[in-house]
Amino acid sequence: KQNQSEIEKEAAAKTAVSFVRDNDIVGLGTGSTAKFAIEELAKLVNNGLKIIGVASSIKTEELAVSLGIPMQELGKTSHIDISIDGADEFSETLDLIKGGGGALFREKIVASLSKNRIIVTDSSKKVEKLGAFKVPIEVIPTAYQYVVNELEKLNGIVNLRYKEGKIFISDNNNYIVDVDFGLIDKPQKLSESLNQIDGLLAHGLFVSLTSKIIMAKDGQLFTFSK
Ligand code: A5P
Repeated sequence: KQNQSEIEKEAAAKTAVSFVRDNDIVGLGTGSTAKFAIEELAKLVNNGLKIIGVASSIKTEELAVSLGIPMQELGKTSHIDISIDGADEFSETLDLIKGGGGALFREKIVASLSKNRIIVTDSSKKVEKLGAFKVPIEVIPTAYQYVVNELEKLNGIVNLRYKEGKIFISDNNNYIVDVDFGLIDKPQKLSESLNQIDGLLAHGLFVSLTSKIIMAKDGQLFTFSK
C-alpha cells in the first residue's frame, strides 16, 4: 500500500506526463517522483507514443531502457522539448534545491537544454524559504579542500557525503558535499557566488530553470508557474 507522499508523487508525475507530445525529446529526471513519470511514460510508449528520452543519471538511463523507452545520450543532445524531474525543496518563486540523490549536475544540464521544464513533487517539498535542506554540491576531488575553503568563506557548513561507510561518488566520479547555508534569502545571489568557484562542478540551487511546478496535496493538484 502506498503512503500519502507516494500517492502525491504519483499524481503529480502522471499529470506532468500528460504534457508530453508525440515526437518530443523528453528529459527524464532522477529520484522517486521522476520514477513515477518514467513508468507512466513507458506505458504510453508501449501504446504507440513516439518519444526519445534523455536521462539525467545512470540509474534513470537503466530504468528507462529496461522499460523500453528509446533513449539518446545526454552528451549528444542539443535540444530537449520537455523535462520532468523532482526536487528536494521549492519555493513559490520557482527556485529549487535539487541533488538529494546526487544527480544534480546532469539534472542541471537536462534542465538547461529543455524548453519546457516541469518539476513534480509531493506537498512536503514546498517551503517559504529554501535552505532547511542542505545544498548538494558536486566537487572535483582534486579541488576538494580548496572548494571547502571557498564554501566556508560563504558561511557554509560543509559535510562530505557518505554512503554505506564510503565516500559517495557521483555518476561523474566526483564527490558531493551537502552544505548548510541556513535559510537562503537570495538564491540567485548565492547561486552566482557558487558559480565562481573553480573545482565546483555544479550546485543544487536551481534558479530560473523551472517553467512549472506540479504539486499534489491531499488529493488535489497545485500548479506554480510564472
Ligand atoms: C536527485 O539528484 C534529486 O535532484 C531528485 O530530483 C530529488 O532528490 C527528488 O527526489 P525524490 O523525488 O525522490 O524526492
